[in-house]
Amino acid sequence: MRKVTINTLNTMKQNGEKFSVIAAYDASFSTLIEQAGVECLLVGDSLGMTVQGYDTTVPVTLEQMCYHIECVRRGNNHSLIIGDMPFGSYNSIDESLVTATALMQAGAHMVKLEGGEWLIDTVAAMSDRGIPVCAHLGLTPQSVNKLGGYRVQGREPEAAEQLLRDALDLQRAGADLLVLECVPTPLAQEVTNALSIPVIGIGAGHLTDAQILVIYDMLGITPNKIPKFSKNFLSETADVAEALKVFHSQVASGEFPGPEHGFK
Ligand code: KIV
Repeated sequence: MRKVTINTLNTMKQNGEKFSVIAAYDASFSTLIEQAGVECLLVGDSLGMTVQGYDTTVPVTLEQMCYHIECVRRGNNHSLIIGDMPFGSYNSIDESLVTATALMQAGAHMVKLEGGEWLIDTVAAMSDRGIPVCAHLGLTPQSVNKLGGYRVQGREPEAAEQLLRDALDLQRAGADLLVLECVPTPLAQEVTNALSIPVIGIGAGHLTDAQILVIYDMLGITPNKIPKFSKNFLSETADVAEALKVFHSQVASGEFPGPEHGFK
């Protein structure tokens, strides 16, 4: 097994090979994810909802993110580990550098933050200082209170144009990856084709360079309805390790997600 780096992911995009990402928060799942060959692991602030039981990701702290990154890193030597910058921890460039440094020192190989135009200078400052950055556009859950709910973004032409502009500007500022969450499939395809950096989709259809699912959703460990864009891989396999392997291989082959998992 080889260590996954940003070069691995760029080469995969250039070769048209799809890669997979799972959001997870502990050492045991981290090891199984590594053994399944999943290229990246996101220690997402979704842990505020899946693990901590909050309604949103807003209450998650930097200290909690560092704790979970340390747990995940101890269980995994090969996947590229991305750590979420929590709500309110990147309101200024200085603050973002302190936050990103803490996440990298906890064991992340890259940090992720949510937002468009207002983050251009922040992304450039982090990139200049050797901190790899994953941007996140579309449905940005930290802004749920401003968005008025968890709903598909970029359906109106002006919003779609703004999203494409933001994606190109973030790439120019130095972003290494982009997560697109809950946007119509044709918009995700347009952004994926326009960018040279890999685009990871969740609820963004089947035409992005990579796919991410939250481990609790893909194993059916959720008290709520599984989102339209997800799938219960455990019910097909009855074995967690096998479920992770099937997810990885179905993303690589293009079998998952299907067009039915995307939004119009
Ligand atoms: O926090 C998270 O798990 C995420 C993914 C859903 C993209 O941001």
